[in-house]
Amino acid sequence: MGGFSWPSEAEMDYSTKVVAEMAGVATKDVRLVLSPYRVCPLGAHIDHQGGAVSAMTINKGILLAFVPSGNPEVVLRSVHFGGEVNFRVDEDHHLKKAGKSYVNANGSTKSKEECSWGRYARGAVYALKCGGHILNQGIIGLISGSSGLDNSGLSSSAAVGVAYLLALENANNISVSPAENIEYDRLIENEYLGLSNGILDQSAILLSRQGCLTFMDCKTKEYKLISPSNLKGGGSNGAQKSYKILLACSGLKHALTSATGYNCRVSECREAARVLLDAVGRDEAEAVLSNVELQVYEAHKDKLDPILARRAEHYFTENLRVMEGVEAWASGRMDDFGKLVTSSGRSSIQNYECGCKPLIDLYEVLLRAPGVLGARFSGAGFRGCCIALVDSEHEIEAASFVKREYTKLQPELVSKIGEEALIFVCESGDGARVISSH
Ligand code: GLA
Repeated sequence: MGGFSWPSEAEMDYSTKVVAEMAGVATKDVRLVLSPYRVCPLGAHIDHQGGAVSAMTINKGILLAFVPSGNPEVVLRSVHFGGEVNFRVDEDHHLKKAGKSYVNANGSTKSKEECSWGRYARGAVYALKCGGHILNQGIIGLISGSSGLDNSGLSSSAAVGVAYLLALENANNISVSPAENIEYDRLIENEYLGLSNGILDQSAILLSRQGCLTFMDCKTKEYKLISPSNLKGGGSNGAQKSYKILLACSGLKHALTSATGYNCRVSECREAARVLLDAVGRDEAEAVLSNVELQVYEAHKDKLDPILARRAEHYFTENLRVMEGVEAWASGRMDDFGKLVTSSGRSSIQNYECGCKPLIDLYEVLLRAPGVLGARFSGAGFRGCCIALVDSEHEIEAASFVKREYTKLQPELVSKIGEEALIFVCESGDGARVISSH
């Protein structure tokens, strides 16, 4: 079972040494970006419609060790992927979209497989340039992710995008607010990579603080951090129940791309919004569900075909769950918060229809596990892991139960990833930051 503090000294030392050697500098000159993964207990699939979301970063994520390269060249290696990414920050990145072959700084063409993991770094340069920033310095860096958790629905892609943004900004002495970085990561994902996702992932990664629940209204972009110090004493003993975040991996891994059902669901939500807005003569309004008032939805939902009706039902009920959940969290009612998380998971299955058999099996197993307060799919829910909030006193028991019961249901998937990579017990952690290596 993966208990840990992240990143470990050994991980930081290894990355620092590799980058010092790549760049020919002293280890003390190497800088580190820590860009954590995030969980979203409530508010799934509604960020792209301008809904309300809640999130937390965990003590696992992306580590990027880097130094400014002293010239416009970017040189990147990855602990997990082969090849070396080479490009210049002064190239024209507008024309170079993800998935193409790239010409490196020496003029040779690298294969798609070898270089495709470098598209986030190119996207970060593209986004910063769109924001009007002038980049003179590239970076020399090594990127790695907490093992076993890539493509698990913990927003590793946003964590990677944010890591490159922070490193390039640091190397070029550019000061950028979290709000601007949220927009730059949106440009990487929506424009450069073609995924119609919302701003939940990068907002959580940039804004979260250890121990707090991050609440964000994705329409106004207003947010607040709800810390345990806000407790009003509603818990059974007047304090928030001590909990852990259980990550249970299904064994199914695919990167979230525009080819998955994700973009299709976003279009269905927009179609539902169009029908509802037209019903009240608001044809000028942008077709997103946050432009539809709850009363309008209630009065006109019979005009939606059954699929669109389910998507809209998820949106409106999930928004309410987030509002109720924030209240429950702030008053220490963790049991109530957990129940809302479970209902949110149920709505993802029944209304948003984004699960698959192994993820649904895992969700049901988690709900039967001792000490589990609530569970749901993580991320977009087409693959990856489920998250659960578990009473700290039962974390070990819960983890063993899930391992045993899920293995009975999905033995092949479990044997593919190995039992030790099935469950990770995490805690909330701080948001993305740059630190020096010593
Ligand atoms: C992915 C997307 C987010 C969000 C979640 C589902 O992580 O990148 O924008 O829509 O799925 O809540």
